[in-house]
Amino acid sequence: MAIALDDLVHPLGYERFVTEHWMAEVPFLSDPNPKLVAALREIEAFQSPEALVSRLTRNVGLLGPKHFRADVPPHHAINFMKQGYVLYMTELEEQIPEVRMLSNEVASQLGATNLGLGVESFIAVAGSVSTVHFDYDINFQILLEGEKRWHVAPNQQIRNPLQSYHPTQQNNYAINTCIEEAYARDPAIKPELPAGARVYEARPGSTMFVPRAWWHEVESLTACFGVNFIMKGSTWALGLTQALCDVLHGDEAGREWCYGALAGSPELKARSAHQFEDMKRRAITELQKLTLEEVYLGGRNGRFVWTPEASERSLVETADGWALVAPGVSEEPLGLDGVLVGLLAKLVPLHHPFAWEHLAVLARDEIRGPIGAVGLWNVLADLAEAGYLQRLPGR
Ligand SMILES: [Fe+2]
Repeated sequence: MAIALDDLVHPLGYERFVTEHWMAEVPFLSDPNPKLVAALREIEAFQSPEALVSRLTRNVGLLGPKHFRADVPPHHAINFMKQGYVLYMTELEEQIPEVRMLSNEVASQLGATNLGLGVESFIAVAGSVSTVHFDYDINFQILLEGEKRWHVAPNQQIRNPLQSYHPTQQNNYAINTCIEEAYARDPAIKPELPAGARVYEARPGSTMFVPRAWWHEVESLTACFGVNFIMKGSTWALGLTQALCDVLHGDEAGREWCYGALAGSPELKARSAHQFEDMKRRAITELQKLTLEEVYLGGRNGRFVWTPEASERSLVETADGWALVAPGVSEEPLGLDGVLVGLLAKLVPLHHPFAWEHLAVLARDEIRGPIGAVGLWNVLADLAEAGYLQRLPGR
């Protein structure tokens, strides 16, 4: 079963959640939703902590008392869990392929692609406490089993942090400091839960939504197994400058190294000054032409490569229009929607893997035009599912 936002915010519903909680940045605890638990349990890795850990390829985080944090190889994780450590596993969507699809629907409803949503898991024994901290990402925690008490308070000191802050005891017994004081409204960030925190009691099947930067401390009242959908992605600043960078990299001049600005040689320095003015003019012109489609939250780390050799694939005109022919993938030619023919004509000849920044150059007209960024992404995903393209791991 595909998981939709409605499943996470039961029974409030998608539209009310978006206005009253997502955009308003207000926490929300859903009612238990057995359908959601059943959907997650269909994934074998979510049937038990042991099943999950056995599928991992990356280290598992350990959280313990007195701000203890470490990480261990997956095969040691269950032993530590039995000794009372909390297991914290991230990037499950990268490690377990079937997990990636789980959050597709939620990601698109919230305006990202699946690449903008990560999947994590927390496994805790009864009595463990995740001490007070705030995160830079946005979190939906689905509790598969167990009961948790969340203490949640708004962050008055810093809004939209780029890093999480977990007050952690150092070797000298001092508590580490928040490293983003420069961004803080009030740099005197106290490593403690603000007074008047709201309390939420999460039960099996419920989902806790924690907006970005809210302080939280979480007690596991019983043994708990939680799956988190977390959203982080591009900031507006990065989205805009990377989209502009993609366009400027489409020109040879934009790909020239920019050193020389500090050169002792007056000629070299003068040339740099000239190039800089030239590049600023181009940037301003291109900035005006950028579309929202190009300031794309997901896709940044997506790469694809054709499965058949270049000589084994082609576009051919048929009685009904155009088709993609690759006998090694399918005996039947793949009929193409008219709007895709120009795009495929540019992609079919590629020999090597191509990433989003290359598509931003090759398919700029299509992204700005009738297909759009999400449409382009869906075309690539469909071709990958049908075996024509291979999706390569994120970079
Ligand atoms: Fe957290």
